[in-house]
Amino acid sequence: MATSNYSEIDSLLHQKAYLDNGRLVDWNGKMDEVFSTISTTAEYKPTLLGTVPHMDEPTALNVLESAVNAYDKGKGEWPTMRVKDRLDCMISFVEEMKTKREEVVKLLMWEIGKTLPDSEKEFDRTVEYVYDTIEDYKQLDRDSSKFQKVGGINAHIRRGPLGVVLCLGPYNYPLNETFALLIPALIMGNTAVFKPAKHGVLLLSPLLEAFQKSFPAGVINVIYGRGREVAAPIMKTGKIDVLALIGNSKSAIALQDQHPYKNRLRLILGLEAKNPAIILPSADLDLAIEECINGTLSYNGQRCTALKIVYVHDDVKDEFNKRFSKRVDELKFGNPWEDGVKLTPLPEPGKPAYIQELIKDAQDKGANILNAKGGQVSSNYIYPAVLFPVDESMRVYQEEQFGPVIPVKSFNDTQLLLDEIATSNYGQQVSLFGNNVDTLGPLIDVLVNLVCRVNLNSSCQRGPDVLPFTGRKDSAVGTLSVHDALRSFSLRTFVASKDNAKNNEIVRELLKSNTSNFVNTDYLL
Ligand code: G3H
Repeated sequence: MATSNYSEIDSLLHQKAYLDNGRLVDWNGKMDEVFSTISTTAEYKPTLLGTVPHMDEPTALNVLESAVNAYDKGKGEWPTMRVKDRLDCMISFVEEMKTKREEVVKLLMWEIGKTLPDSEKEFDRTVEYVYDTIEDYKQLDRDSSKFQKVGGINAHIRRGPLGVVLCLGPYNYPLNETFALLIPALIMGNTAVFKPAKHGVLLLSPLLEAFQKSFPAGVINVIYGRGREVAAPIMKTGKIDVLALIGNSKSAIALQDQHPYKNRLRLILGLEAKNPAIILPSADLDLAIEECINGTLSYNGQRCTALKIVYVHDDVKDEFNKRFSKRVDELKFGNPWEDGVKLTPLPEPGKPAYIQELIKDAQDKGANILNAKGGQVSSNYIYPAVLFPVDESMRVYQEEQFGPVIPVKSFNDTQLLLDEIATSNYGQQVSLFGNNVDTLGPLIDVLVNLVCRVNLNSSCQRGPDVLPFTGRKDSAVGTLSVHDALRSFSLRTFVASKDNAKNNEIVRELLKSNTSNFVNTDYLL
């Protein structure tokens, strides 16, 4: 696929090969077509971008064996390798990855409809994530390059890998969120089988060779196909030690259920959320409106961190609703590479109809569309509708819409509002808009226990990636950040010896002889 012109597809990308045991193996079975919902013709027609393997269970299980053998129950080359050598592989990978920026950015736009600036940001942020992870691991290693003496025992404590990881990423951040799992998993000495999401799959093709060239055979393996046909059978074998998934809890639970030894399975999950914005009477409305525009509609609201419900105080609701709705109608819809575009085609063909159902259900139960363009449908889009007043009976209140529709609900009692948020099934983040510290202080003290990040006068977001990213209830299992992910994908393991002359002599010899990759006090700079 030529990359010079973002708005044209000159050739199709047929991803014939999958990555198995260090080899790009040609798949000779059924292929799945990959379409973009972006049309290039006057009359609407999805654009064919290429094809990917529709792999089957036996092939997926073979690939799993490659990861299992490379880990070799902890005895493999990769899990026992010196940290420096694993880091060298990662550096080689990221250097190679950087050369693929233009191709990946173009595919991000066509496959998932992300704007050009956001696609570039996703790529650059991911590269930065890899470098930050490398630096953090060096620090972790430096901190572990020592012995501790306690209760007559000398202990040399490091972090060791967990085993074989099944990694499944989401379509909305097919590069960043997937790599935020995969990179720390690999660097800590685990091996992995990775399956891209249904949308945002071809954009990984330019990176397959980089994976192949940079890591020993079997360390990273890439498969394609349907989750239930390839991921579920892999889980059923009981050979997966870590399920690393960003998606929804239904698929996470279905996969967990397949695993025969649940006590052995570690979970690292980023799941659904329904982050609320709370607009207090003291809020600066100009600021709150701009932040809520970004929070609700960046990438059309298809972010787990998107603001998915707006609670506005009775005292300011009329003013907020009027000005917010006007701002929504000013947003430009267009193809991702066009200047100034904020709203872009939805990659899931069924999404406009789903959002339409939510709007209809809310209208039937008493909500109005406040903005003139709200709910206007085209072949690949539905213009964001601001719905008011929304109540608990409506689907748009209960479901994570993950798309362009904005439910607004008014309140006048902050204690009742806190009760409502406390009973929600979700618990990722909240945006709190206000300037009066007497109100903000006590609210913050409760909200930090209901979610895991309170954004003061700003929209919700994951970044910067060094900050902890997690959630309560149905929103997450485990914590991800550059720092935390290294810990999530490993556990502490150590060598202990009684503090006596004989043992200490052996330890000194071990260190001098350089025969152990684990017992060493080398310092990585
Ligand atoms: O979909 C969830 C992403 O982690 C959101 O990340 O807040 O940087 O858009 P973001």
